[in-house]
Amino acid sequence: MTVRRKLIAGNWKMNASFASNEELLKGLSAGFQQLCTEAGKESMPDVLVCPPAPYWAAVNILLEGSGIEQGAQDVSEHAKGAYTGELSVSMLQEFKLKHVILGHSERRRDQFQTDRLVSLKVAQVVQAGMTPLVCVGETQAEREQGLTQAIIKRQVLSALSLLPVDFDGVVVAYEPIWAIGTGLTATPEMAQEVHGYIRGLLEQRTTHAHALRILYGGSMNAQNAKALLSQPDVDGGLIGSAALSSSDFLSIIAAAVARNP
Ligand code: PGA
Repeated sequence: MTVRRKLIAGNWKMNASFASNEELLKGLSAGFQQLCTEAGKESMPDVLVCPPAPYWAAVNILLEGSGIEQGAQDVSEHAKGAYTGELSVSMLQEFKLKHVILGHSERRRDQFQTDRLVSLKVAQVVQAGMTPLVCVGETQAEREQGLTQAIIKRQVLSALSLLPVDFDGVVVAYEPIWAIGTGLTATPEMAQEVHGYIRGLLEQRTTHAHALRILYGGSMNAQNAKALLSQPDVDGGLIGSAALSSSDFLSIIAAAVARNP
């Protein structure tokens, strides 16, 4: 059986300031070091924070030597040029960022990002040797109409459609839209059902499917993390609100440690 190291990623969204970042990351780094000492480095999950771009330089300094990595919240599908307000893959690379969230439901909703656009971004990020965290998820209405699998299938297969056969190094995040920032969470069984379905979709596209990580996102917190992370196909979390508190985020990291073999 493949052992997938868990990944706990914090999506800070548009929440940050120099002062609050410093407080959050000092607490997080100290707590993370303590967990490493107690649990042993080998059983720790990978940990990532994704702050807004203006803070990347400062966050790199704050995270130096901590073992915690920094990622981005989106990236342009273009390499460079006249694209006002956009950020390129090479800019992320200059800041040593290796991970980027793509197709988050807030970007799909507010910036009108389509499945096709997400697939272009995914292809570009993978080609650059970076890891996309590809977000998919259904709305409440879609779930009630029994459309969850159809929506997930469309989003997953489309996002991966431009990748070469047998691709590797992609993370998928299942984020039911009705659970994001609402305090409503999928039950561990609901999450596992969709994660298992996503694993099957990945198997259609790559022989590395068993090694790819599928994260759950949507009101994951200190209380529900352990039960969600104990599901066989839940390989980590993409965390919004609870990633803004070092103690809450550390509790989720600790829940992932316990589950690492
Ligand atoms: P939430 O956000 O944890 O606040 O629900 C998750 C996300 O949008 O990635």
